[in-house]
Amino acid sequence: MHVLVTGASGFVGRRLVAALRDTDHAVTVLVRDASTYDPAPDVTVVEGDVLEPGSFEPSLDGVDVAYYLIHAMDADGDFVERDRRAARNFERAANAADVDRIVYLSGLGDDGDDLSPHLASRRAVESTLAEGTADVTVLRAAIIVGAESASFRMIFQLATRLPVMVTPQWVHVACQPIAIDDVIAYLLAVLDLPETAGEVYEIGGPDVLTYRDLLTETAAVATGREPIIVPVPVLSPRLSAYWVDLVTDVPAGLAHPLIEGVRNPVVVTDDRLQRLVDIELTPFETAVRDAIEAETGDGGVVRKRAATRGTE
Ligand SMILES: NC(=O)c1ccc[n+]([C@@H]2O[C@H](COP(=O)([O-])OP(=O)(O)OC[C@H]3O[C@@H](n4cnc5c(N)ncnc54)[C@H](OP(=O)(O)O)[C@@H]3O)[C@@H](O)[C@H]2O)c1
Repeated sequence: MHVLVTGASGFVGRRLVAALRDTDHAVTVLVRDASTYDPAPDVTVVEGDVLEPGSFEPSLDGVDVAYYLIHAMDADGDFVERDRRAARNFERAANAADVDRIVYLSGLGDDGDDLSPHLASRRAVESTLAEGTADVTVLRAAIIVGAESASFRMIFQLATRLPVMVTPQWVHVACQPIAIDDVIAYLLAVLDLPETAGEVYEIGGPDVLTYRDLLTETAAVATGREPIIVPVPVLSPRLSAYWVDLVTDVPAGLAHPLIEGVRNPVVVTDDRLQRLVDIELTPFETAVRDAIEAETGDGGVVRKRAATRGTE
């Protein structure tokens, strides 16, 4: 098959391209700035911007399946409008190029809930892409744990930089993070399963945690100590967003929509893909350790302790 990876310079895209190199598929990538992209051998690079019709269409030439791994929370202003316009442009171009299938990595969250603008925007992209002739496979995920994941970086830096955290009630909301390796395994698996065309799936790791657990377990793995978390009723997500600006290096354009999303539980309620694809899911603690190791070459205190035990 001829596969296009959009968002190939991003956190998920880069790992997906690397994994696709171990398959027989021909791979083209779409990037906005080819001069800063270091392509793997045998990968065709096309430069273009999905917000600029006329610039990116050649990337779809001869493509059977396109991965849509783009979001527009990378600049100030109305990301919802940009996300919708980007998806519309891509859907039209995919139609014109006669693409069979689009695989979109979306956000987890119950449609019945009052979804945050970020999650509602993921839904709008799903439905916009589905308006075309290509079948769309949607994989909905909560926080993806891995080095360079903006959402995980936010959790990691808060957890490791603040010994005491005064938080809004959202720390009690449930979340089902998933390791990046498991996401990549699912993204690859659907490529070879024609019955997944036109389906919407939810994916998650083996652990359902509250955001409080997420913060304390991340800190415990990274530093060996847990922050003190004090939930108070008066703090709004907006105020927490300002805290995130102060404490983390995640750009505000990305951090604020993500923080607003923490009010929505993001837990798998439909495990059809897990039953279809046999993946040994990575425990949260292991995923955190892997992320730290990938970022620093250091597995955090848990690995060090395990290594010490191993030598006893
Ligand atoms: N990370 C998570 O925890 C998580 C969780 C659930 C779902 N997802 C979804 O997974 C997908 C990938 O996320 P990610 O974490 O890999 O994001 P990321 O690291 O921020 O990467 C986003 C990618 O989109 C590209 N892009 C943005 N605007 C573009 C445009 N107008 N034209 C062409 N390319 C454009 C960026 O290119 P540049 O390098 O040029 O900026 C970048 O490669 C997104 O749809 C996201 O919503 C992520």
